[in-house]
Amino acid sequence: MPNVLAINGSPRPDGNTAHMLREVLQVCGAAGFATEVYQAGGKPVRGCLACGACGSQKGRCATDDWINELYPKVARADALLLGSPTYFADLTPELKAVIDRVGFMSRSDNMRLSRKVGAAVSAVRRAGSIHVLDSIQHFFLINDMIVPGSTYWNMSQCRVPGEYEQDAEGVQTLRRLGENIVWLVNKLN
Ligand SMILES: Cc1cc2nc3c(=O)[nH]c(=O)nc-3n(C[C@H](O)[C@H](O)[C@H](O)COP(=O)(O)O)c2cc1C
Repeated sequence: MPNVLAINGSPRPDGNTAHMLREVLQVCGAAGFATEVYQAGGKPVRGCLACGACGSQKGRCATDDWINELYPKVARADALLLGSPTYFADLTPELKAVIDRVGFMSRSDNMRLSRKVGAAVSAVRRAGSIHVLDSIQHFFLINDMIVPGSTYWNMSQCRVPGEYEQDAEGVQTLRRLGENIVWLVNKLN
């Protein structure tokens, strides 16, 4: 059974980003995919130390925290769905730490992310989400991953938790993104 791992970079486990991720996963689940959300936002984390230790201990980081617990889930996933709220037109530091550390770990682990599907979503009150999506998609594209689109950029205009559902175009965009993840993973398999 194909599986999609979503990583929530928002410190709000039930905020707008979480709802956006669930919207996409609901479509994937209805198509028979296994789905999981990993809550990264709000967890204490260090950035990459550039120590190079992951080069000799494949798939493990010298900083032994939750990113070592997350990595095997990433390695097993057929598709990754990364979500972040827009923070000063950028992603959250927790998600950036995932990108930097998992990115290096996977490269020294036989390019473990190769040909996995990667999609990004971002919640935004008003502006800056395109830059968030670009940052996340740069991570996918340098790691040999394949990125599906939708009918708009994968963003939703919302501020307080619960507002996500009011952006009808955002909801529609994410449902189509879910359909495209399913379509693409099935083609690749
Ligand atoms: C530190 C911080 C910075 C933010 N920066 C922006 C921003 O640059 N542009 C914007 O439109 N909204 C900004 N917001 C609003 C959030 O992106 C918005 O409320 C989003 O829906 C929160 O998603 P969440 O519920 O998943 O945490 C910011 C919020 C916080 C807490």
